[in-house]
Amino acid sequence: MVETVLQKELVNNDFKDVLFGRRSVRKFDPTVTIPAEELQAMIAEATSAPSACNLQSWHFVVANSEAGKAKAKSVLMPFNYPQIDTCSAMIFVLGDTQSHTVYRDVWNKACEEGKITPEKRDEIFSSFLPMYEKGSREFLIGDATIDSSMVAMQLLLVARAHGYAANPIAGYAADKVATTFGLDAERYVPVMAIALGKAAETPIESDRYDAKTLTDFI
Ligand SMILES: Cc1cc2nc3c(=O)[nH]c(=O)nc-3n(C[C@H](O)[C@H](O)[C@H](O)COP(=O)(O)O)c2cc1C
Repeated sequence: MVETVLQKELVNNDFKDVLFGRRSVRKFDPTVTIPAEELQAMIAEATSAPSACNLQSWHFVVANSEAGKAKAKSVLMPFNYPQIDTCSAMIFVLGDTQSHTVYRDVWNKACEEGKITPEKRDEIFSSFLPMYEKGSREFLIGDATIDSSMVAMQLLLVARAHGYAANPIAGYAADKVATTFGLDAERYVPVMAIALGKAAETPIESDRYDAKTLTDFI
């Protein structure tokens, strides 16, 4: 279970505050370091997110070193320089369009361990897998983008639960992200970058539209 990887008690376990107190922070205390183990734990906690067919079509690149942050900065649009210059780490969430290639192994293992019957496994293989194995690139990108958006949102909230602030960022050169990080650009598509750190500014109180004006009950 993901919960077993929790490194420490959550700093903020108040769901109302975690959810409604979240705001994009763009200036962080540059003296603060978040230990790599804690960054890894936050990612593990965020991956409790649901995903289509449980394919978990996400991949993470953590820029937490000087060299890594310089690489991250090289793909960012200049209006996002303050975040990379001051954050403790920037986590890039990329969609993995080939996540289904290990899907058979995952379910074969579950079957071997007696968690599902061979019939259930075969049903999964025949219903879901062909969609992905025969899926167009557009479909695979769309699916991986949705999965990665789910996990990125969780990561924003997990960060707050750990006592950190964050800023989701899509202002980067999307066509350069994967290759800059040494990844196969055909396989991995950038979805979001998340700057993390201790807040060093009071964020803007962003407003929202009245949900009633956006909702149809049918
Ligand atoms: C997909 C996406 C892309 C975003 N890209 C950027 C960005 O490049 N730079 C930035 O400063 N904020 C970025 N933001 C943050 C939004 O500006 C912010 O979420 C919005 O103004 C609402 O404010 P709040 O996060 O404080 O509630 C992005 C948010 C999302 C969801």
